[in-house]
Amino acid sequence: MSVLVTGGAGYIGSHTVVELLNLGKNVVIVDNFYNSDKEVLKRIEQITGKRPKFYQEDVTDKAALINIFEQETIEAVIHFAGYKAVGESVQKPVEYYHNNLMSTIVLVEVMKMFGVKKLVFSSSATVYGMHHEVPFVENMSTSATNPYGYTKVMCEQILKDVSVSDNEWSIVLLRYFNPIGAHESGLIGEDPSGIPNNLMPYISQVAVGKLEHVNVFGNDYDTPDGTGVRDYIHIVDLAKGHVKALEKANTTKGTLIYNLGSGQGTSVLELIHTFMKVTKQDVPYIIGERRSGDIATCYADATRAWNDMQWKTEKTLEDMCRDTWRWQSQNPKGYAK
Ligand code: WQD
Repeated sequence: MSVLVTGGAGYIGSHTVVELLNLGKNVVIVDNFYNSDKEVLKRIEQITGKRPKFYQEDVTDKAALINIFEQETIEAVIHFAGYKAVGESVQKPVEYYHNNLMSTIVLVEVMKMFGVKKLVFSSSATVYGMHHEVPFVENMSTSATNPYGYTKVMCEQILKDVSVSDNEWSIVLLRYFNPIGAHESGLIGEDPSGIPNNLMPYISQVAVGKLEHVNVFGNDYDTPDGTGVRDYIHIVDLAKGHVKALEKANTTKGTLIYNLGSGQGTSVLELIHTFMKVTKQDVPYIIGERRSGDIATCYADATRAWNDMQWKTEKTLEDMCRDTWRWQSQNPKGYAK
């Protein structure tokens, strides 16, 4: 019996695959390499000594997905595959709705055909929108401020409705806060295509000399140092949260929702200064204008994940910076040769 990991060659997917393989689980990856690189499969084997079965397919392709379920004995699915860039989603809304919604709908249709009813879904703290006070709690209402966020709100709703329609389903919605860092080997890590949208890959590309300086998007927020505050979580802690979620899906029916965050807020300047302290690398920055759509402060109430799954973050901000730097300095051009 295998766990199917869609988007398993991506940043979060590959770290989760490593944890599953290290626990002796059989893993099948389906990925179309839209936002990942086939080099990741080699790196996963280098880390674990195992090479998971791999299908280069698009999850919206129903026939391709049916073939995978016919060839393999799938017991559960972790669904990462999806577009995730907020800014890009504003420019290309139809692509985002089609890809993110159809991949989830097609996946559920095929799972149902084969009687596979355990699903862990990659959601996001972005579904808390802009109208709640921190810390964000799972029972808060959801909303969005961009098409990417709406795809997560809509996919959560689709999956909740699937679970209501058939009580045999076990569905775990995981709301990620800000995943950063890399596996301690430095062999896998975050490798955004083009100029990074997110803060930590931008910092590490400045440190490695690929970019000149960090643009701090505003220092006039109502936060301790005026810069944006976020809940950063080490990618390996996040990956371990998926293993716990799979175990939960094995024992519980219905839809379960969990924040995967540390519960701590860190500002942009705190992260930059911590990175410089830990890595001894210079990271020049300039204070610029706010980025539209950003909220001042976002961090999790992570108690439900601990109470229900005995999961909590274990790695520190220093670990996140140290491991990011090991990956970036060992792979200055990411996975590209
Ligand atoms: C973090 C902080 C910025 C870049 C996004 C998505 C979210 C999730 C995680 C998918 C903010 C500031 C950033 C830069 C900066 N992705 N910043 N200069 O926006 O919290 O969350 O990624 O699920 O859905 O919205 O992450 O890393 O972009 O920004 O000052 O060059 O860093 O203003 O305060 P964000 P981020």
